Amino acid sequence: MAMSMSSLLILMLVVVALAISGLSDPSDESCLSNLRSGLEDPSKALVNWTHPNFASPCNGLTSVLEGATCNNGRIYKLSLTKLSLSGSISPFLSNCTNLQSLDLSSNSLSGPIPPQLSSLLNLAILNLSSNALSGQIPPQLALCAYLNVIDLHSNALTGQIPDQLGLLVRLAVFDVSYNDLEGPIPPVLANKTMYVPRFNATSFLGNKGLYGFPLPPMRRAGLSVVAIVGIGLGSGLLSLLISFTAVCVWLRITERNEEVRNGGAGGDHQEGKMSHFMPDY
Ligand SMILES: *[C@@H]1O[C@H](CO)[C@@H](O)[C@H](O)[C@H]1NC(C)=O
Ligand SMILES: *[C@@H]1O[C@H](CO)[C@@H](O)[C@H](O)[C@H]1NC(C)=O
Ligand SMILES: *[C@@H]1O[C@H](CO)[C@@H](O)[C@H](O)[C@H]1NC(C)=O
Ligand SMILES: *[C@@H]1O[C@H](CO)[C@@H](O)[C@H](O)[C@H]1NC(C)=O
Ligand SMILES: *[C@@H]1O[C@H](CO)[C@@H](O)[C@H](O)[C@H]1NC(C)=O
Repeated sequence: MAMSMSSLLILMLVVVALAISGLSDPSDESCLSNLRSGLEDPSKALVNWTHPNFASPCNGLTSVLEGATCNNGRIYKLSLTKLSLSGSISPFLSNCTNLQSLDLSSNSLSGPIPPQLSSLLNLAILNLSSNALSGQIPPQLALCAYLNVIDLHSNALTGQIPDQLGLLVRLAVFDVSYNDLEGPIPPVLANKTMYVPRFNATSFLGNKGLYGFPLPPMRRAGLSVVAIVGIGLGSGLLSLLISFTAVCVWLRITERNEEVRNGGAGGDHQEGKMSHFMPDY
């Protein structure tokens, strides 16, 4: 009787201790272990990002995992910047469903931005700047309704900027400068409110194929208009000049011929002149 009571007590204590220490969350575990296996860490920066720690990464607000911060036993912030990480971003990162801030900036990450990140419904900050990420900006990011910051500058992203991102009403920082984006800038991201754009040209610079307000008009479209006008005016003037000189030369030749012939025919008038234009048979 006494034995079973004490063993029950021990069991309860173990359960309470596990709950306090932040009981392992299966989706966070999947998120962290898959994120780690997608990354290469040549400078050995990811201390403690090893298997037993993925099951219980939280210890109060801190985490045994470098760059991770916890809240209520769940990962809520990941900040792995300037760590020379390469590899790609695992789609399983979407299993860290309490994540509010994801900063993987200033590394050498390649591959796409996983569209699955749209499952991170609490995400407020997304900073993936200064990497080598390619592919399109996933339009699904528009589902992360709390996004305040999207910083994707200095990558190798292609395609158009999704119009859907205009749905993110809380967006205060948006930077896609220095990528390989193309097409028109969605008006919802550059809406002129009292002639002040929502995001100014700084957000869009350094993309060869991107055009439209708020970029200066002398990019793609502007330059070609100037070129077309220039070429049109130039060739117009040139052909005018050529035909003018041709007419002048022709007039002078015929004038000289007339003078010669008129001189030969003596004091002849209109009739004589006319006869000179007729062929002699
Ligand atoms: C790594 O884990 C060990 C033991 O689990 C711990 O003592 C150490 O503080 C951890 N390092 C970091 C940076 O959290
Ligand atoms: C983890 O994420 C993947 C990819 O988004 C998904 O297929 C899977 O169901 C998720 N697993 C858990 C445990 O949430
Ligand atoms: C994103 O991270 C970089 C450093 O890696 C920093 O310079 C930049 O300010 C961050 N972006 C935002 C919007 O905070
Ligand atoms: C532009 O801004 C005005 C005023 O803030 C708003 O009424 C309008 O709906 C916006 N247009 C677009 C396309 O977002
Ligand atoms: C663009 O906006 C940012 C803040 O949103 C500001 O710091 C910067 O000075 C602006 N640049 C120009 C050219 O207006």
